[in-house]
This record gives sequence, C-alpha cells and structure tokens, in this order.
Amino acid sequence: MATATREHWSSRRGFVLAAIGSAVGLGNMWRFSYLAAENGGAAFVVFYLGVTLCVGIPVLLAELVLGRGSQQSPIRALAHYGGAAWRPLGVVFVAAGFLILSYYSVIAGWTLRYGLVALAQGFPADVADRFGDVATGWDAFGFHVLFMGITIGIVAVGVKGGIERTALVLMPTLFVIVVGLAIYASTLPGAGEGYSYYLAADVSKLLHWSVVKDAAGQAFFSLSLGMGAMLTFASYLQRDEHLPNATLTIAFADVAVAFVAGLVVFPLIFALGLEERVGASTVGALFITMPQAFAEMGAVGRVVGTLFFAALVVGALTSAISLLEVVVSSAIDGLGWTRAQATLAAGAAITLLGVPSAWNTDVLGVIDQIANNLFLLGGGLALSIFVGWVMQDPIAEAASGTEGIRWFPLWRWLLRTAVPLFLALVLFYAVPETTAAIAGLFSSAP
Ligand code: TRP
Repeated sequence: MATATREHWSSRRGFVLAAIGSAVGLGNMWRFSYLAAENGGAAFVVFYLGVTLCVGIPVLLAELVLGRGSQQSPIRALAHYGGAAWRPLGVVFVAAGFLILSYYSVIAGWTLRYGLVALAQGFPADVADRFGDVATGWDAFGFHVLFMGITIGIVAVGVKGGIERTALVLMPTLFVIVVGLAIYASTLPGAGEGYSYYLAADVSKLLHWSVVKDAAGQAFFSLSLGMGAMLTFASYLQRDEHLPNATLTIAFADVAVAFVAGLVVFPLIFALGLEERVGASTVGALFITMPQAFAEMGAVGRVVGTLFFAALVVGALTSAISLLEVVVSSAIDGLGWTRAQATLAAGAAITLLGVPSAWNTDVLGVIDQIANNLFLLGGGLALSIFVGWVMQDPIAEAASGTEGIRWFPLWRWLLRTAVPLFLALVLFYAVPETTAAIAGLFSSAP
C-alpha cells in the first residue's frame, strides 16, 4: 500500500501512549512478579534494569528507526533496507505475533473473568482451589474468545479511531489504579516484610546464569521487542517524531509500572501470610495467590480485587492490540486485504491457535518459553545485527526529528557488538533449556 494512504497517529501523545500500552501488560504484573519471586528478588530486579538499559533500549530504538524510516509493516521494512533475503525474518516476526497472542489471550481471559467475579460478587473463600477450573477447558476458552473479540473489535476500527483512542483513555486509567493500589498496599500490616522480600538481594542467586537469562527474556517481553511490534507502531509515525525521547519515555514507563506493580503484589501477599504459595512459582502463582488474598480481605478485597484485575485487563488489552496489529498490518500491506478482512481472519486464526493453551497450562508455559527464549531473543539478535551491520545509515534515520544526539555512535556500537554478543550468549543457554522443556511436555503426556 502506498505511503500516501498509510494510516498515521493523530498526535505524538497518541503514539507514545499506544507504545507504552503495548509494553505495559501482563508481563509487568504477572510475569515480573513471579520471576522476581523465583529469582531472588532484588538480584533479578538489578539484572532486569541492566538488561533494559544496555540491551532493551538500543533494540527498541532500532525497531522505531526501522518502522518510521520504511513506513512499512515488518516484512516489507526489512526488505526495504536489506533486500528480499531478509523477508523470511519478517515472516518469523509475524509468526511470533500469532504464537504469543494465542496464549497471551488465554491468560488475559483468566484475568477478565477474575475481574468480573470480583466486581459481581467478590471472591469465594475457596477460590485458590478452583483455579484449575478457571484456567482450563471450556471456561478458559470462552473467556479467551471474549477477550480476542474485544481486541479484534478495536483493531478493526483502525490506528487512530481504534488503537490510539483506546490508549489515550485506558493508559492514564491504568497508571492511576496501579499507583493507588501501591499506596493502599503500603498501609497494610505486612507491607514491610513484603518490601524486604521483594527488594532484598538474595546474593546466592546473583551469579546464576538462569537469572540473567530470565532477566533478558523478561526485558524483551516487557518492552514488546524482538518481533516487530514496536516497529509496526513506529511505521505510523511522521518523520518529525523525536525517537530517542520516545524510546526513553516508553522504557521508563514500562519499568516504572513493573516496579510499582511489585509494590502492590508483595505487601498484599505478605499481609495475608500467603508467601509460601508464591514460592511454588508457576505460571498460575499470581492467579492463585492474589484472588485468595482478596477473598480473605472481605468487602475491601472486593474493591481492591476489582481494581487490581481491571488494571491487568487494561494492560493485557493494549498489549494484545499491538500483537494483533503486527499480523494485521502485514496482511494489509502484503496481501492487499482490507483492515476488516485482515483483522477478522487473523483474529479467528489466533483464537483457534489458543486452543491447546486453553486446555493445558503446561502447554501454555512451554509456548511462553518458546516465544521468549527462541523467538524474542533470536529476533532481537537478528534485529541488532540488521540495524548495526546491514542498514546503510541508521544514525541519519534516527537523527531525523532531533538535532543529532551525542550517544548515537554509542548506540550503533552497542547494536554491532555488545548487544548481539550478549544475546547470542543468552541464547546459547536458553535454547537447550527450551528444547528440554518441549521434550518434557511430550514425555509427561498421558
Ligand atoms: N509487552 C507486553 C507485556 O508486557 C506483551 C507484548 C505486547 C509483547 N506486544 C508484544 C511481547 C510483542 C513481545 C512482543 O505484557
């Protein structure tokens, strides 16, 4: 589709909030807190911040440069700067969008259901024992379909009226809820213990490879990197946007929400003496422990629980929108479909692909590992090499809209050397672990 007819954001704030909406999601609240709990609290937080700064931010700017410069969806953006040989990488990105949204929406469905339960009647005392019913089977599938339906409805409307307008309304709402909940949590009796568990470094974990690997995977997942989602959003930008400022704003907001979400989750868990349940960290930890905390809090728990799950649903929705948009924009640009056709077809296909995850949380967990360890980290490696070595003059494109920034040469150097080296090293450890997880899934199947 010609650039002249391409959709664009109506305001800078709209783009930045939509990109923050993509970044801030279940990753910040669900994944971040269970990984932090599993990996020794502050040790994990420190690595996560380091990876975000030295690896996440350079790759994020690289995606924005590719998208805005080419004004194209991922497959075409790569071909635009690197020739047809790079198209398969773009196809892998689209495949990653399919895969991630298929299980992400299942988890979002649990969240949506819990939010509605909290609102309608409050959590029953035995909520923790009922997680299995909520998380799998027709129940899980139904809410997955509902959540996909909402996502499809918004993306079908388009960039300005659908994606941008949703972000403009929902993201400020999310910030207010999360900060409000953190303030409330700080007043609880167990808050101090929760903070020290969250923020005290378990030094024995500091030098573990698995902590570094989890921190790297989380940094990529949380910033929506490695599969062209940020690239796609940037392709709807005009060339006067200040990309370095946008990059820093997005990264800061993402880290801030993850950090503040931890300030909500840990005090609540400790106030109610539920810490043992988080120790047994699995995909479902947050979905078992938090509702139980709210159930034990009575009437207050109903209000707090509704707000907590509302924030999660909002975060999940604006993230799911960006995942679907990668697939939709590629179908519009590459196949010449209308937005309505592309959204319905892609949305329906992704909904079906979610069936295995909706019926089996172990499958869901393994797909999450495949997506992170293989697709996102591998995609980040390929992107850094592409912008560092293949693209002709990334600095000139990054500088458009700025007065030239002193750290651009450092950025390019990082993309050429440190970032790919680090990601290759992490992949070296992550790939065998992922293949083992896949094998485990098959050997444990009945
Ligand atoms: N970043 C989102 C979260 O933290 C999830 C997400 C949205 C994502 N778009 C993405 C992850 C693209 C990887 C790639 O929940």
